[in-house]
Amino acid sequence: MKLLWAVSALLFSCWRANASTAGFIKSPLSQMKLINDSAELHCEVIGNPIPEVQWWFVEGEEPNETFTQLFDGARDDRVLINATYIAHATSTIHLTSLTFDDSGTYECRASNDPDRNELKKTPKIKWIRSQANIIVIETPNIVTEPSEVSNQTSAVLTCNLTESSLPIKGSHWTHNGKIIDDSKYTNSSPYTVLRLDKITHTSGGQYECVFQTDPELKQIIEVKTLPHVYSYKRSEHGNENDKGLLVCMSHGYPLPTDWTWFKEEDGAQTPIINGTTDKYEIKSTPNKTILTIKDLSIQNDIGDYICSGTNDLGSSSEKIHLRVRSRLAALWPFLGIVAEVIILVTIIFIYEKRRKPDEVNDDDDSGSAPLKSNSTANHKDKNVRQRNSN
Ligand SMILES: *[C@@H]1O[C@H](CO)[C@@H](O)[C@H](O)[C@H]1NC(C)=O
Ligand SMILES: *[C@@H]1O[C@H](CO)[C@@H](O)[C@H](O)[C@H]1NC(C)=O
Ligand SMILES: *[C@@H]1O[C@H](CO)[C@@H](O)[C@H](O)[C@H]1NC(C)=O
Ligand SMILES: *[C@@H]1O[C@H](CO)[C@@H](O)[C@H](O)[C@H]1NC(C)=O
Ligand SMILES: *[C@@H]1O[C@H](CO)[C@@H](O)[C@H](O)[C@H]1NC(C)=O
Ligand SMILES: *[C@@H]1O[C@H](CO)[C@@H](O)[C@H](O)[C@H]1NC(C)=O
Ligand SMILES: *[C@@H]1O[C@H](CO)[C@@H](O)[C@H](O)[C@H]1NC(C)=O
Repeated sequence: MKLLWAVSALLFSCWRANASTAGFIKSPLSQMKLINDSAELHCEVIGNPIPEVQWWFVEGEEPNETFTQLFDGARDDRVLINATYIAHATSTIHLTSLTFDDSGTYECRASNDPDRNELKKTPKIKWIRSQANIIVIETPNIVTEPSEVSNQTSAVLTCNLTESSLPIKGSHWTHNGKIIDDSKYTNSSPYTVLRLDKITHTSGGQYECVFQTDPELKQIIEVKTLPHVYSYKRSEHGNENDKGLLVCMSHGYPLPTDWTWFKEEDGAQTPIINGTTDKYEIKSTPNKTILTIKDLSIQNDIGDYICSGTNDLGSSSEKIHLRVRSRLAALWPFLGIVAEVIILVTIIFIYEKRRKPDEVNDDDDSGSAPLKSNSTANHKDKNVRQRNSN
């Protein structure tokens, strides 16, 4: 690859020096694609001045073939062309939602001849051309067994690739898009198995068998479990007249489609309905629900709250205990600190007052102290020096 680049770079500089005809440094590559998939052809050209690049679709056999130029937005907007003309020319044609009619020969044409678009002159000479084929095929059938796993503690997933003549280089499985390490096979078998010995909410999700063919073939098996509902805090507290926030989250597949909150009172569960009063507000996403309780009161709001998440297999729930502190209680720590500061200041003040008469003597002492310490320090220094010279 590096060598290729070096060669291209060399070519590149040669072309620049020679300054004239256009030359390909990257040609489009032929490919096989599944219906509804997308394809991409890439072309790079050098020359001075920088050549213009065009894309053409070729139909029919030589010498009777017909050429249709492809523009950005052609074929009902399924054609997208991205070209850059910096130092050299690059052009990529994207084809989306492929149909069988998109099968055929695609041509990358380039020219930097000033007369290249003069219709009166023979155009074929002035353009250099590079072709690639796109073949669109029907998606081969992969039979999955079972087609879905629901509420089971273990399962054996299988995929059977039937009626395909594409060569198979191997296969593997993915879980939510991540490759499962010990599921890789390098045999050409059109059949692959994945054992799930213990299914929990963490092993639920989308399993996909992937056959290494060109193009790649894959099929999803969904493994569904009850949602796993949890909360970071089993007990939460708020201050009187303030807002209380209770949060529940969910893991698992599928995530809850419905969240409900209950308040437990004397063993009975009363549903909390969003928006009926200003008191409660519930905000939910599939993996999280937040209950906001406004204007907390000690009499009414202390207690156990239950959040329940439901998916198509059933529900699971979590209980959170809410404590409400009185306004004063919230103040206690602050008052404590204030009291501590007052006491400390008083003690210091009294102490300083008592010390005042002695302070004159203290000052005298400290005034002479630096001299003393200096002299001892000098003395010590001398000692050290003497010792060193010895
Ligand atoms: C292609 O995709 C469209 C919608 O995305 C779908 O209706 C159609 O069945 C698909 N065709 C094939 C052959 O898969
Ligand atoms: C090209 O077209 C001519 C006349 O339409 C026909 O006679 C000839 O067989 C065609 N050639 C090919 C290769 O299809
Ligand atoms: C077009 O190509 C350039 C360079 O290859 C790239 O940076 C840019 O993202 C592309 N734009 C689109 C819309 O694909
Ligand atoms: C895969 O499917 C084919 C065709 O339906 C069938 O003949 C074959 O027995 C299947 N293979 C396995 C291992 O089930
Ligand atoms: C609850 O009501 C609020 C305000 O009306 C709204 O924004 C929110 O989406 C509602 N939540 C649910 C779970 O319906
Ligand atoms: C919840 O889902 C959102 C998007 O739907 C995602 O960004 C976020 O990471 C998820 N949170 C957790 C804890 O899974
Ligand atoms: C799933 O299993 C749990 C107990 O394991 C059961 O309570 C629940 O009803 C089952 N759900 C479905 C949809 O079968």
